[in-house]
Amino acid sequence: MKTTGPRRGNVRAACLLLLWSVITCVGVAPVADSAPRERIAELRTEIARHDELYFKKTKPEISDAAYDRLKRELVTLEAAHPEFARPAEGVGDDRSGRFPVHAHRERMLSLNKAYTEAEWRAFHAKLAKQLGRPDLAFVVEPKYDGLAISLTYEHGVLVRAVTRGNGTEGDDVTANVRTIRALPAQLNREAGTLPALVELRGEIYLEQVEFDRINAERAAADEEPFAHPRNLAAGTLKSSDPAETASRRLSVVIYGWGAWEGAPAPVSQQTFHLQVRTWGLPGIARYQLANSADEVWTAVRSIGQKRASLGFPIDGAVVKLNDTALRARVGADEHAPRWAIACKYEPERAVTRLRGITWQVGRTGVLTPVAEFDAVELGGSTVARASLHNRAEIARRDIRIGDLVEVEKAGEIIPAVVGVNLAGRPADSMPCLFPDRCPSCDTTLAEKSDEAAVRCPNTHCPAQRQRRLEHFVSAQAVEIKGIGSATIAALSEAGLLQGSADFYRLRREDLARVPGLGEKTADRLLAEIERSKQAELWRFIHGLGIPQVGAASARKLAAQCGDLAGLARIEAKAAAGVIGPSAAAALAEFMARPENQADIRAMLDAGVRPISPGMAAAAANLQGKVFVFTGTLAGLTRAQAAEKVRAAGGIVRDSVSRLTDYMVAGEGAGSKLAEAQQLGVKVINEEEFRQMVGRP
Ligand code: IVH
Repeated sequence: MKTTGPRRGNVRAACLLLLWSVITCVGVAPVADSAPRERIAELRTEIARHDELYFKKTKPEISDAAYDRLKRELVTLEAAHPEFARPAEGVGDDRSGRFPVHAHRERMLSLNKAYTEAEWRAFHAKLAKQLGRPDLAFVVEPKYDGLAISLTYEHGVLVRAVTRGNGTEGDDVTANVRTIRALPAQLNREAGTLPALVELRGEIYLEQVEFDRINAERAAADEEPFAHPRNLAAGTLKSSDPAETASRRLSVVIYGWGAWEGAPAPVSQQTFHLQVRTWGLPGIARYQLANSADEVWTAVRSIGQKRASLGFPIDGAVVKLNDTALRARVGADEHAPRWAIACKYEPERAVTRLRGITWQVGRTGVLTPVAEFDAVELGGSTVARASLHNRAEIARRDIRIGDLVEVEKAGEIIPAVVGVNLAGRPADSMPCLFPDRCPSCDTTLAEKSDEAAVRCPNTHCPAQRQRRLEHFVSAQAVEIKGIGSATIAALSEAGLLQGSADFYRLRREDLARVPGLGEKTADRLLAEIERSKQAELWRFIHGLGIPQVGAASARKLAAQCGDLAGLARIEAKAAAGVIGPSAAAALAEFMARPENQADIRAMLDAGVRPISPGMAAAAANLQGKVFVFTGTLAGLTRAQAAEKVRAAGGIVRDSVSRLTDYMVAGEGAGSKLAEAQQLGVKVINEEEFRQMVGRP
């Protein structure tokens, strides 16, 4: 099933795709008849590896579609060779071992899938036959692409949130789920009888804007972007650091239920949706009713057509029998209910020729291979490059220059090379040469035995330096607005920038040496540099570019050290207690290098005085507390105040609600103040706020 029709200019790609499908069917897929047993074993190993990557590590290497293909190949082979088949594997397992597990009152099942209209019609016909009637009514919903969650409300109060796990028991992630602001801790009590206990089933996911925001921050910080919003949502939900979970805005939607005790369960999916809304929960706004197989298929396609503009990731539509009594008559098997089916959308794919692989040097020296191929149109944009993770992956998949490769992009996902046409490999294809020297500084690359990555060990490498300086000025770190990579390159070229401290030594005449930079811009940049001297301490720590020390660890170190000089002196044991042993070792190694110590001293000499979050803030437990500001604060800007809240683990929101913990009212507070008072939110003044978060 394609979500979009053929595009102009895509005909060549479509022909290649056709050719490719023929080749993969007859030539490439190693399903030699003589060896079904080996292929079954190979598929099981491969699927188990991808299950591990997907569920446990939340870092898949292949797309869902590619995974589904492996699964389908296995099912087909097992059907043809029942002598090698094994009982069905159930619903997968997301238990990570890092959370206590909790048993579901009612099992959380998976869904059967349909990929084509014919498969949907077969499902419909079977259901109609089982129930002895053709006039079945369905609800069609988007299939949110996130992570399943079971939320238990007892007498209207949220008591527990558990992931699907193995269907029977899952990870208890209640603390992290409580940071999701859109999820009320209490159901609206005026909305009729509350069940004594209800297990509401839903999906935790990331909206597109939030995914883009996080990836933009990562790009600015020279960190590899997250490839898929689902994996980022899963990683965030399963983070052992609630502050990290709270710093990324997860969303949740409720689509069904498990146990329902002490009150009658809904008679239909439609009444369920209405109930969800009256309880004040985030429900599915865009479900559609459909009264025939045709109507369902039209609804499935219409959701698919809107896919790119929905604002949240989906990978299909879920079709559910509306009437609960009819559902009970057909029941479920081990793996999935018989009254619902997921109609999956295939991601867009194209075949193109790999022209080369370039190696990008990151700020910590890690080399990332980038596939450069003939441009193809995919998912509404032109794509000519895709990341290839690391060189082990290139070797494992035997990718060569000149190969026809299959490139895929599904909705929100970053393009990926998902296949290589081994059968159609041209005679002159060339193996990828892995560099043994840095493409920027020619230093011999270092390889860590426990990592797939290779890195340039030369900390003076110009490419690394350029990326480090870009990181330092980025919005993720110290944020010096107006200085971009071109300015940094020009200043480095002129010998004016070595380390980050050199930004604070720049004079007007230095900036005049940057081609195309006018006087006014130079003055603006100098003012920005001056302003940045008082950025938050964690920003400087993050800006230093210490390997393994990201924004979250930098915040923790800032709370521990108090100032920059303290960072240079922090003891290994204390650091390990705050950011973990491996990041602490990286910090110690970083601090042992004289040029880094000198850089910090030079910053202090140049008048850099970061705002410290203060020990009081570290001690204050503002973890997960929600602040809203109104009016003007005398001593600090809104941004600085918000920064203090975040540094202490709190959350800042624009509007007041029942979930607001503190309203900080400054001079000239407006209507928000009245709203807060009406809702019974605690209102504090600037002085009280300062005491709470610690003074600079
Ligand atoms: S109903 C017993 N409805 O898809 C059936 N599931 O592949 C329960 N999902 O585990 C599933 N959107 O995590 C249902 N509107 C929706 C959904 C949905 C996303 C997920 C859910 C489920 C998986 C099945």
